[in-house]
Amino acid sequence: MLKGMFTIAAAATLLGAAVTAQVQAQESVQVGLVLPMTGPFASTGRQVEAGARLYMQQHGDEVGGRKIELIVKDDGGVADQTKRIAQELVVREGADVLAGFGLTPLAMATAPIATQARVPMIVMAAATSSITEKSPFIVRSSFTLPQAALGIARWAAENGITEAATLVSDYAPGHDAADAFRKVFEEAGGTVIEQAAVPLKDPDFAPYLQRIRDAGPQGLFVFVPSGVGSLLMKQFDERGLDDAGIKLIATGDVTDDDILDQMGDVALGAITAQHYSAAHDSPENKEFVDAFKEANGNSRPNFMAVGGYDGMHLVYEALKATDGETGEALVEAMKGLSWESPRGPVSIDPETRDIVQDIYIREVKEQDGELYNVEFDRIEQVKDPVKADWSQQF
Ligand code: PHB
Repeated sequence: MLKGMFTIAAAATLLGAAVTAQVQAQESVQVGLVLPMTGPFASTGRQVEAGARLYMQQHGDEVGGRKIELIVKDDGGVADQTKRIAQELVVREGADVLAGFGLTPLAMATAPIATQARVPMIVMAAATSSITEKSPFIVRSSFTLPQAALGIARWAAENGITEAATLVSDYAPGHDAADAFRKVFEEAGGTVIEQAAVPLKDPDFAPYLQRIRDAGPQGLFVFVPSGVGSLLMKQFDERGLDDAGIKLIATGDVTDDDILDQMGDVALGAITAQHYSAAHDSPENKEFVDAFKEANGNSRPNFMAVGGYDGMHLVYEALKATDGETGEALVEAMKGLSWESPRGPVSIDPETRDIVQDIYIREVKEQDGELYNVEFDRIEQVKDPVKADWSQQF
């Protein structure tokens, strides 16, 4: 009798625990953040995670009547892993949102999972134009390479560069960047006289830089992904391109705030175009940079951190709008959102689910004893030109 009662009581307790767990699972919104936290692109993972965590620290962990839980998973920068982890997150852990995606192949591999599971997927880092076309559940808080490349191509053509070479990492965003640069630069009257695509894995830029030096362009346009810029800059210096008077022009990925201050004098004077600089002069950015440094042992946020920060803003604002509903409704609520980001004014294009933002032209300069990308011009409210219009704002 006693034993029987105990069993019933224990069963009731267990059932109670199960019900409570279920209610909690229903109440909390699980955001699965899949990032390269190890391997050659670990700096991207570190920055995106720190940006996302800072947003939560500043805005609390409850929104639209629901608690937000961040689940960070390391994919090591390997696409098969990203896909497997994303699948586990939605199937086993019931994730309501997938987010992160440090490189294009990682986002591409995961797109079908978002579509099948009908789960919003926030691309916070990867920047190949076509990514958002791979699933109607993708919304992007980072940028596209053609957005940045069009800005620097225009600057080059307007500032005395008539012959340029291009050097990019040999994968989708590199090709997007080189194609966009060439299109805009040549339409403005310039000529691309040499093009190089360097393997993404363990790159050695030296032989390509030598060839470019011999071709003697006035400017060299470069895209390499975040984290790789230091090696590129070192070899640019060693191969004597700086001394030969070849002007380095690039997307802001090359003079990444995360590593810029360690690049030394060779970086001084480099002209780049991009959507974020830690030196962006606005009250919102000052607050963001100060809070980021305080939370991260004085290290500087880069454009990856702002992608993570704004990606969480999208989740929070959309949950407010849907009163806590997730799924397709959350994606719908993200379309058309606009806000003042640390990078400047931004919105989500309701047609493409890409971010519309100002693209700044910047020069590497010393400020308060450190190297910064100092903005001196901007093109306002640039849409991804591949999906919109190449002549916008010209
Ligand atoms: C990408 O793989 O899409 C990517 C990675 C790092 C960047 C830009 C683009 O800095």
